[in-house]
Amino acid sequence: MTEERPTILLVDDDRTTIELMGAVLETQGLRVDRCHDAQAAIRLLETIHYDAVVTDVVFDGRPEGDQVLAACRKLQPLAVVVLMTGYPVIDNAVSAIKSGATDYLQKPVDPIVLAAMVHKALKERELDTSADGLQFNDLVEILSGMVAQTIERVDPYTAGHAARTRRYSRILGERFQLDPSTLERLELGAIAHDYGKIYLDDLGFLTKKGKLTEEEYKEVQRHPELGARKLGAHPQLREVCRYVVEHHERWDGKGYPYGISGEKISIPGRILGVVEVFDSLSTRRSYKPAWSLEKMQGFFDEYRGTAFDPEVVDEFQALLAVHGEDWVSQPQKDLAAAGIRFDEE
Ligand SMILES: [Fe+2]
Repeated sequence: MTEERPTILLVDDDRTTIELMGAVLETQGLRVDRCHDAQAAIRLLETIHYDAVVTDVVFDGRPEGDQVLAACRKLQPLAVVVLMTGYPVIDNAVSAIKSGATDYLQKPVDPIVLAAMVHKALKERELDTSADGLQFNDLVEILSGMVAQTIERVDPYTAGHAARTRRYSRILGERFQLDPSTLERLELGAIAHDYGKIYLDDLGFLTKKGKLTEEEYKEVQRHPELGARKLGAHPQLREVCRYVVEHHERWDGKGYPYGISGEKISIPGRILGVVEVFDSLSTRRSYKPAWSLEKMQGFFDEYRGTAFDPEVVDEFQALLAVHGEDWVSQPQKDLAAAGIRFDEE
């Protein structure tokens, strides 16, 4: 499972305050988006999911905090909302709580106190909603697991591949500062990238020992499109389908299915391409050993700018410098845990 940090929207017209507070909140385990006026905050609330919103009440003399509060209640009813008030408007803040804010703090706000308040409110919200049964995120986890297990059933040697691809894609995506909803869609794309394989006419190709014939290889190359088509045309999954269909495209246009190149491939699609190749090569198969970290780093150097977006490779190499040894050994641990053995063992 991916470790999720709560995402918080911090709204204040004082840029110095917001930068200082944002930095401290990040050290307290929160992901922070910063915003300087009420209208921009409302636009963000229309598109991005937040666990908590912390907002000033007066912006450049205009009391627009109530508009932010109203937008939160309408667009994100489950979000924790904390108001930051100056002394003269404290009565208003009390009435704001009556109209739906979770809590308020008087300025100057101590970010450590604020972080503790947000964590406590989120915990209480979790207890509240778990009483009603499963939450949306739990359902996503369960369904993701089912998709991954379905793929692994037709190709047992991929045990754990979808989950690892999801984890590393998320970490790499964060280095590109993708917004939270794009990161979620990237994770779903990572889970489902090989989903189309289960719809191939002959599943035997997937576990064939040795090289595929040209025809077999062509058949296997249908899987990105098949997967995207089967995931459907639901508007919520449109971007996820795009990432799935792009995961074997190459920076130089020599990939498949469409041979699109460069920035025509989405950033999540490019990220997925790098991560899934890494995990596949670091997985031992009956016909090939697992690659060492050194060999892997050399491979990405060699194909930087041809198969892969150079910037994505650079960021991934930086991650490998820290996590590489762990990540190359993980597939073998997952295969052993799934009871997959090789012939000579
Ligand atoms: Fe694939």
